Amino acid sequence: MLYNRGQLQRAPFLFFRGMNPTNEQLHDWDKHYVWHAFTQMACYDPLIIESAEGCELIDIDGRRLIDGVSSMWCNVHGHRHPVIDAAIKDQLDKVAHVTNLGCSNSTTIRLAKRLADLTPGDLDHSFFCCDGASALEVGIKLAFQYWHQCENPQPRKTTYIGFEDAYHGDTIGTISVGGVDRFNSVFKPLMFPVHRLPIPDRRTPTPTTSCQHHLRTLEETLAHHHETIAAVVIEPLVLGAAGMIVQPEGYLRGVRELTHKYDVLMVADEVAVGLGRTGKMLACQQEDVVPDILCLGKGLTGGYLPMSAAIATNKIWNAYLGDYAEARQLCHGHTFGGNPLSAAAALATLDLFEQEEVFAKLPAKIDRIAGHLAKLASHPHVGDVRQYGMIAAIELVKDPATGEHFPWTERHGHQVCQFALNHGLWIRPLGDVLVIMPPLAITLEQIDTICEVIAAGIDHVTLTEARAR
Ligand SMILES: Cc1ncc(COP(=O)(O)O)c(C=O)c1O
Repeated sequence: MLYNRGQLQRAPFLFFRGMNPTNEQLHDWDKHYVWHAFTQMACYDPLIIESAEGCELIDIDGRRLIDGVSSMWCNVHGHRHPVIDAAIKDQLDKVAHVTNLGCSNSTTIRLAKRLADLTPGDLDHSFFCCDGASALEVGIKLAFQYWHQCENPQPRKTTYIGFEDAYHGDTIGTISVGGVDRFNSVFKPLMFPVHRLPIPDRRTPTPTTSCQHHLRTLEETLAHHHETIAAVVIEPLVLGAAGMIVQPEGYLRGVRELTHKYDVLMVADEVAVGLGRTGKMLACQQEDVVPDILCLGKGLTGGYLPMSAAIATNKIWNAYLGDYAEARQLCHGHTFGGNPLSAAAALATLDLFEQEEVFAKLPAKIDRIAGHLAKLASHPHVGDVRQYGMIAAIELVKDPATGEHFPWTERHGHQVCQFALNHGLWIRPLGDVLVIMPPLAITLEQIDTICEVIAAGIDHVTLTEARAR
């Protein structure tokens, strides 16, 4: 069919096949053409967001939902923040993308300098990637190659210490150092072996679970195997995907001390906990720790655009310098690593921490969440509540006295989230653990709403069930 100019002006979308679908079509297409992450597509029920404003998402039916988990733990200052929007638009007027393979751009350079100033110690050298997993892959490879070409090479250092239930992403390298068996057991033949240790949980300070006990276990492993261990890879302070498991105070510092003692590198995965979530810019700063390699992602661009970084100290960097013929460079790269639009969003995000005095406002928000959690802790089906800064979790159990869980197939966490969805809140659970991790820009009133809706949802799901019995 041919269109005349008038028709084109009235309906420019007509030329693009499928550009103006109905909401019903969008639902059908979403279920059929989009393969969603960590989702059983046979039972997927679409939630389709059309736009957003501040800490609220707006779906295609105009329904407003508080973004209770910051769009998978990444949004920081709210959606459509005018400062970040303007920074991206300004950058768009210059250039959207140039490679960083043997080439650079002024925005990404400024970001790297900014990160060097912001991070503790001499974490001065940013290797940019696009997502958290790829930053961790770089961290893992940087540590490996380091031992081949540092001043006193130790090429036998080829393995790692990782932690049970730790999550670092879904690539083969990151699932190897991670410890979430329920996600990865099918891929076991592809994974490389690591030493996997339990990590202490702040809730259970018995003699066999305490911080000191776990540091002793780590020391035993290091004492026996340090000559073959390249690095310890750790999620500092909080195991995110494991269900927001909070480590006891002093563990992270203890890990750093032991890695120094046994000459093993430390890779800190701050993809989830970095950028203000714990109440300080970086989680490692809570315990005055400087890792050898620090990985950032998610919130680095305010949760706007894909960008992550593996940031290395001078010690690591220097091991990679040399004459061209020595071939010491890291042979790793991503087409969009260091993308200037993402870098512009990241610079604006970092500016906003100062301009909006984010850290001065956080204590009141953290306290407000703590107050709600304290009330929820006595609910007959809440087994535990936990919090570190702006990261919080509520664990549903069948019986708090015994700790017995509901059968996982009953999806109690999911049911509470469905209730929340019908009451103006979007959250995503980790099994039967309900996560509260809103943008740092969330207001006190919105925190009240999030927690009240969750409380009502837990009542609804567990009491309806009790009535039915
Ligand atoms: C601690 C941690 N590391 C790494 C990742 C992987 O990041 P991405 O999903 O951007 O690859 C995540 C994602 O949730 C994470 O929580």
